Amino acid sequence: MLTDLRAILGAARAGGYAVGAFNVYNLEGVLAVVGAAEAAGSPAILQLHPGSLREGGAALIALCLAAARGAAMPVAVHLDHSPTHEAMDLALAAGVGSIMADGAGRPYDENVAFTAEAVALAGARGAAVEGELGLLSGTEDGLEVAARDAKMTDPAQVPDFVAATGIEALAVCIGNVHGPYAGEPRLDFDRLAAIRDATALPLVLHGASGLPEAAIARAIALGVCKFNVNTELRAAYLATLRDRLNGEQKADVPDLMRDTSAAMRAVVAEKLRLFGSVGKVAG
Ligand code: 13P
Repeated sequence: MLTDLRAILGAARAGGYAVGAFNVYNLEGVLAVVGAAEAAGSPAILQLHPGSLREGGAALIALCLAAARGAAMPVAVHLDHSPTHEAMDLALAAGVGSIMADGAGRPYDENVAFTAEAVALAGARGAAVEGELGLLSGTEDGLEVAARDAKMTDPAQVPDFVAATGIEALAVCIGNVHGPYAGEPRLDFDRLAAIRDATALPLVLHGASGLPEAAIARAIALGVCKFNVNTELRAAYLATLRDRLNGEQKADVPDLMRDTSAAMRAVVAEKLRLFGSVGKVAG
C-alpha cells in the first residue's frame, strides 16, 4: 500500500529499525524493490533522482505510485536530491509524498531559505521534506562533489536548521559518500550522536552502498531511520545487462527485464536485512 515518509519513518523509529530508500530508473528497478519488500515483510521507499525524472518524467512517478498502491507492504514514493524547484514542482504535481530539498551545496543561510521554500511548496500538497546539512562528496547521476568540498554536519547548527525550515527528516554528513567508498568507510559516530541529541527528527544516511553491517547497526542505534542506496543497485543492473548482452544467449528483452530485475532484487533483499526491517510488517 502507498504510504508516506512521515508514517514510514515514524514506524521505523518506534520499531528500532531503518527503511531502505532505493533509487529506481525503470520498471525493472521498481519491481525489484517492491518484490523484495513483499517477500521480506518489509516497508520500503521508491526514490527518484532528478536525473531519472529528466528521462522518465511524470510517467515514471505514475509507475512508482501504481506499484506502491498495489504492494502488499507499505511503500513510499520520494524525490531524491533536488537542487531546484523545477523537479520538486514536477514531482509534487505528479503525486510524490515527499521530496529531498538539496540545498547543501549553498552557504548555510541560503540552504535554510531554499529548504524552507521547499517545505512551503511541499506543504501545499501535504508532502514532507527531507533537508540536508553538510555536503556529501561523490558522484551521482551527473551531480559531482569533490572530496575537498565535502562538509560534515555541524551539530550546533541542527536545532536552528530544523526550526527555521520545518523539515521532517534530516540527512547528515558524517563521512558517508555517494558512490563507492575508497577504502573502509569511516563514519564519525560521535558526530552522529551529537546530531541525534540535537534533534528529535528521524535521521537519514545517504551513501549506504558499501557500508558494513556493524556500521549500519550502529547508525540505526544512533537515530538513522532511512538509508539511501543507489550505486549497488545500478551496478547489479549494469553488470547483468553487460553479461547477458556479451554472452552466448540471444538478447530477448523480456528475459533481460527478468534477469536485471532479479539481480537488483537480490541487492534490495540483502539491504532490507541489514537495515533490520525484515518482518516488520505483517503481510
Ligand atoms: P550510494 O551511492 O551509496 O548508493 O548512495 C545513494 C544515495 O545516497 C542516493 O541519494
